Order: sequence, then C-alpha cells, then structure tokens
Amino acid sequence: MREPGIRFLAGAEMKILPTIENAYLVIRDGKIDSYGEMKDCPSDQEENYIDATGKMVLPTWCDSHTHIVYAGNREGEFVDRINGKTYKEIADNGGGIVNSAKKLQSTTELDLYNQSKKRLEEVIQMGTGAVEIKSGYGLTKDAELKMLRVIKKLNAAYDLPIKATFLGAHAVPSDYKDNKQGYLDMLISEVLPIIAEEKLADYIDIFCETGYFTVEDTELIMKAGRSYGLAPKIHVNQFTSIGGVQIGVKYGALSVDHLEVMNQEDIEILKGTDTMPVALPSCSYFLSIPYTPAREMLDAGLPLALATDYNPGSTPSGNMNFVVSTACIKMKMTPEEALNAATINGAYAMGLEGEVGSITVGKRANFIITEPINSYGFLPYSFGRDHIESVYLDGNRQIFGF
Ligand code: NIG
Ligand code: FE
Repeated sequence: MREPGIRFLAGAEMKILPTIENAYLVIRDGKIDSYGEMKDCPSDQEENYIDATGKMVLPTWCDSHTHIVYAGNREGEFVDRINGKTYKEIADNGGGIVNSAKKLQSTTELDLYNQSKKRLEEVIQMGTGAVEIKSGYGLTKDAELKMLRVIKKLNAAYDLPIKATFLGAHAVPSDYKDNKQGYLDMLISEVLPIIAEEKLADYIDIFCETGYFTVEDTELIMKAGRSYGLAPKIHVNQFTSIGGVQIGVKYGALSVDHLEVMNQEDIEILKGTDTMPVALPSCSYFLSIPYTPAREMLDAGLPLALATDYNPGSTPSGNMNFVVSTACIKMKMTPEEALNAATINGAYAMGLEGEVGSITVGKRANFIITEPINSYGFLPYSFGRDHIESVYLDGNRQIFGF
C-alpha cells in the first residue's frame, strides 16, 4: 500500500514494498475506502465479507505496453526462427508486422473485436487491471481507425482502464515501400485529424529502429502528435541504439519502451526526467535478444516499469506474472523492484498513477487475491504459474466463461 500522491518510484526507492501483515481492506463504491491492521478493522464491515486468511492482496498489474488488438497469429514465423531465420530476415521477406497488417485489413471490425476481447479477458484473469493497447497492425487509414475503434469499444465494455496509442508508424506498408515520407504524411494529414476528432487515442507511438523509422521520422511524428495533444510513448532501442531515447526525452515522452540495447548515454539522458523507461522481458525471452539492463539502470537511480508487449510477432503472451518472474530471474531485479515496476510505475507509464497501481485510499478497487502463499517472493520464484485466486476491478470480481 502507498499514500496518495506518489507518481513513480526510482532507483533505491524501488527496493521498498510497503506491506501489512494480517490486514483488512474496505471497498466502497468501487474504490478503496480504507485499509490497515486487522485489529483496527471497523466492526460494521460484515456485509460482502471475504476471508483472505493466508492469502495476499495486491494491486492488479498495470500493463503499459501491449498490442492486444490483432488478427490471426504468426506461429509459422515462430517455426521459421526455430529453423534458423532471424526476425529481420522474416520481416524483409514480407513477414513480420506487414504480415499481421495484411490479416487485419481483411478482418471485420466485429471479428477483430471478438478476437481481441478473448485476449483481454485472458489477461484480466491473470491479474491485469489496467492496460495500454496500440494500433499499428492496420497500416492503412481505414485499418488503423478500425483498430482504434475496437480499443475504444473494449474500453467501454470492460471494467479496467484502457489507454489507446496510435502507432500508425509501426512499419512502412508495401504500398509505400519506396515512399516512407508519403506514408508518414498520410498518417499526419489524413489519420491524425480523425483520431483527434473522434478521441480515438491518448498517446502516439512510432517504431524508431534501424530499417523501420529514423530519429527524424520520430521527431516528425511526435511533433504532429503534440499538435493534437497526444503525448509520445515510443518503441526505441529494441535492436539498435540510434538516438531514440534522446529524442523521446527531448519531446517529453511519457515512456520509452523496449531498451534491450542501452549504452551509457542512453542511461544518462533519462536521469532526472519524467520519462519512464519500460522493459519488456517476455519479448527478450521469445526472440532470444538481450534483456533490458535493469540492474544498471536502477543502480544509476532510474525508475523502470515492466510490461508484456503482448503481440503476435515478438511476444505472444500477456502474462504479467511471467514478466515479473522473468525480470527477477533474468534481469536480477528483486521481487520488490519487479512488483513496483509492474504496478505503480506501469500505472505512471499510462498516466494512470492517480487511479491504479497501489492499494491507496481513493484509488480504484482493482486488486488480486492470491492462493494461500507464504510471501510475495513466492510469486516470481514459482515461475510459469500465477497463484491468483481471484481478480477484482472496481470492486467487482471478474469471472469469464472460457
Ligand atoms: O513491440 N517492435 C515493434 N513492434 C512489436 C513487434 C511487432 C511484430 O513483430 O509484430 C514489438 O515487439
Ligand atoms: Fe511493442
């Protein structure tokens, strides 16, 4: 639990996870009303009483980077990679993001909604209580808008807060193969105004990476986003360090995500800023690429958030429990650091730190009750399974029929 007003945690602060043993929690009107030691539990709380003896109550995961809305899957490319092809070779031969876009373009909005809601329900059951979802598998005006409308509908239909990010600049579509500038101009002059008009996005994103979009492209997109009030949350440093972190910081990005490849200057420039670095360990795991150097970053005093990157190409998994475990096992984060990174810091990376991310009076009653376990360290230690007994959003237990 935390006092109100905390935005995010950085460096050594992340080693501390305030807890109460033998505690009570009162929920009223979907919000956290009070909490404390059991001996101080108000005596008029007998209605809708849940006995959580031996169990733990923790805030739901805040997954600040996903691509949950997509069509079909890419297990064929997965097998190609097992057989020795690289992610880049597959993308260069018409696979990758462009492959997902082709599928999505020919999928109806209703079908896309139905495919995506299954994944959303799946991640809620695994303890996610706030999520960001990106477009970026449309790559045409109509298909990008279709994705964003699906995100909006999901937001209206489910109890968790959902933030939408416009990632039109995810890859250059084949129709614009030799005309990247034309594609960016189309996104800016034709798609962005409709997004603003229909309030379809909260943030703007771009894949700033060798072979995708340059630092100059990133600047152009962030400027355009800014003129419509969309703050940047950007994909940088996944395979190469080309200055994406620097340009993100310069434009006040809310977050810079991926960061598998970080040099000293990338770490330095983030110090003392409001930009949250976000690591995506499941992506590193699935693609066998380096893990974000979390230890180095935290020891340098930086904050860090953890997210899934749930998408059909680099991370076909939305399991935040696995993310937290993998951060501990592969990135040498302590359970306290990983839990903070997956809750309050993830909330900040979506602009939701006033609503979710901790057990705090006045925040939404989005919380997990675990199975009986002896310590929270057991959660990341016992990897591959979640140990979640129930999930509550706005005080309502979430049960979906699978
Ligand atoms: O975040 N890096 C860019 N985009 C996605 C993966 C895209 C894909 O392969 O479909 C990511 O990893
Ligand atoms: Fe991503």
